[in-house]
Amino acid sequence: MMKKALSLAFASLMVMSLAACSSSGGTASTPAESTPAASTPAAPAESAPAASTPSGEAAGGVQINAPDDVSIGVCIYKFDDTFMTGVRNNMLLAAEALGIPAPEIVDSQNKQATQNDQVDTYITKGVTALAVNPVDLTAAGPIIDKAMTEGLPIVFLNRQPSEEDMNKYDKAWYVGARAEESGTMSGEIILDYFKAHPEADKNGDGKIQYVMLQGEPGHQDATLRSQYCIEAVTNDGTFGVEELAADTAMWDKVKATDLMKTFIASHGTDKIEAVFANNDDMALGAIEALKAEGYNTGDPEKFIPVVGVDATAPALESMSKGELLGTVLNDGENQGKASINIAAVAADGQEVTSETIGYEVTDGKYVWIPYVKVTVDNYQDFM
Ligand code: GAL
Ligand code: CA
Repeated sequence: MMKKALSLAFASLMVMSLAACSSSGGTASTPAESTPAASTPAAPAESAPAASTPSGEAAGGVQINAPDDVSIGVCIYKFDDTFMTGVRNNMLLAAEALGIPAPEIVDSQNKQATQNDQVDTYITKGVTALAVNPVDLTAAGPIIDKAMTEGLPIVFLNRQPSEEDMNKYDKAWYVGARAEESGTMSGEIILDYFKAHPEADKNGDGKIQYVMLQGEPGHQDATLRSQYCIEAVTNDGTFGVEELAADTAMWDKVKATDLMKTFIASHGTDKIEAVFANNDDMALGAIEALKAEGYNTGDPEKFIPVVGVDATAPALESMSKGELLGTVLNDGENQGKASINIAAVAADGQEVTSETIGYEVTDGKYVWIPYVKVTVDNYQDFM
């Protein structure tokens, strides 16, 4: 109980320090312009770890005893993804902070077969740990088998393998965020807007007529965000909901603009009362389509509330112009850092615990990084 309470306290401290450090640069779109604060210390999960040896760099208490022997191979499902670009940049910064060699990071180009080959190549090269953002989460099983055969520690991130796969191997970990949480938060942002602006219920029927732009089918973040954002509204009970249209735009801004144009063509901007997007790129794509109709250009009279997830730099920028209503911080900085800390600590032959990696470890395998609601009241803290 005590342990849990303490960890929770630290989790909120971590969130607060995040906000204070305006560290969301980690989710910025282009690697060139995103220079995230490298120095936010990983929140020690419970207490300061007992320093084992004086060697190695201490980053938030994380000690790597033989830094030069750590060699991490990273696969990212595709480089052309705004949020994962932030995560990837933060993995490099995290390695630097630990004083270990920069991990090799490869682009799996959204092809599972390519990623499988990349894993084989890493094994042949003799890496001492793997960090994999799977293309297809059902492929995690065979990848775990490969790592297990070699006795290699493996950290998955962003796409959560099945419990069954994860439980096959004691050196498999997952770093992610609870998708439900981001769904609930984005639903609450829309709900709060409707409570404050009764006129947003344009036809006055007590229901929110919405369209939804969804992420990749089968991805836990697409499924759960879609479900929980609506449940946040219906559970509150003040408003009903009516889905006008929902479809996937594959996390992609350009696809989202096209999709939103078709939604507008079939329902009209006067019928659509809210837009839920599973991520910021799609929210911004939808805003492009709305702008083409004269909406969401900063005039509060011609505004349809749009909510996203990630808190990317362009999304925060859009909020500052009064175009995007709100978003949810998907904390790529801490996801990248936790992944590297686990891989490095495990490669260093240490046990992976809350104390050794500087993040709370759940069930010996999971690190959950909290989401943070981003509204007009606090978005500047993340810029
Ligand atoms: C989600 C993120 C999306 C996209 C996706 C890739 O967590 O919100 O923007 O990056 O991961 O798997
Ligand atoms: Ca309505």
